[in-house]
Amino acid sequence: MDDHRLTIVSNIQVLREEIAELRAQKKTVAFVPTMGALHEGHLSLIDFAKEHADMVVCSIYVNPTQFAPEEDLDTYPRPLVDDIRALEGRLTDFVFTPTDNEMYPDGYTTKISVSGVTSPLCGKSRPYHFDGVSTIVTKLLMMVQPDIAVFGEKDYQQLLVIRRCVTDLNIPIEILGAPIIRDEDGLALSSRNQFLSTKDRETAPLLYQTLTKLSEEIKETGGDLSELIASSTSQLNKAGFHVDYLELRDTKSLAPIIELYEDQSARLFIAAKLGKTRLIDNIAV
Ligand code: PAF
Repeated sequence: MDDHRLTIVSNIQVLREEIAELRAQKKTVAFVPTMGALHEGHLSLIDFAKEHADMVVCSIYVNPTQFAPEEDLDTYPRPLVDDIRALEGRLTDFVFTPTDNEMYPDGYTTKISVSGVTSPLCGKSRPYHFDGVSTIVTKLLMMVQPDIAVFGEKDYQQLLVIRRCVTDLNIPIEILGAPIIRDEDGLALSSRNQFLSTKDRETAPLLYQTLTKLSEEIKETGGDLSELIASSTSQLNKAGFHVDYLELRDTKSLAPIIELYEDQSARLFIAAKLGKTRLIDNIAV
């Protein structure tokens, strides 16, 4: 019989004691931070984490400081019971579900602010977002103190921000990126996809189709890429998207790439609104 048990912890002190116990048993620990509303993309991170450590800790916390006042904090989905069932199904060992009071003590004023990789792409349209992300992730990493932490490549810029943050603060935790999981029609899985209307859900796969087509064109054409990118942007806008950005950038520094040279490591990044839902995606070129 399977005697696997998921332990639910919402108190920081209890979490620290549980992890100390694992350490005393010489177990390695992998950590997967999430905001819940778990889908196959998140669960693939749990599977990935399990391949790299003895025990897996997942956190579910909708972090208020990474949402701007006009964003969707209040309506962000919070299906905790379903999430816990899904984590049990993937043999997760611990789930940490702290409260706002626990995470942000009364009168808190401290934040972690990474510069450089936070400036372009989502950093332009969501100027507070990455400070909120790096602050909460640093706090969670200090609480869990895992050997590794896993982040999805769907939020590729976030992955780079966390890597920069952990390197700069000399935090001895390995940050691993895990591949994007897509629906059969190519749409990258996201907790926000459930907000797409039926019609918008039909249109949504065009985002990934455009990225793959554009990536091929860039590799074939070379030279100045601005026209190719402008034409793809206009096609998406005509199809009903409001493209925030569509850009080719260096995989590590996120420096813009105007002309692609051989051996250059590049990625296409896109963010676009469809109805009220903001979708992001990226692909290696
Ligand atoms: O990617 C997310 O779900 C969040 O940004 C994270 C990393 C859990 C921090 O709140």
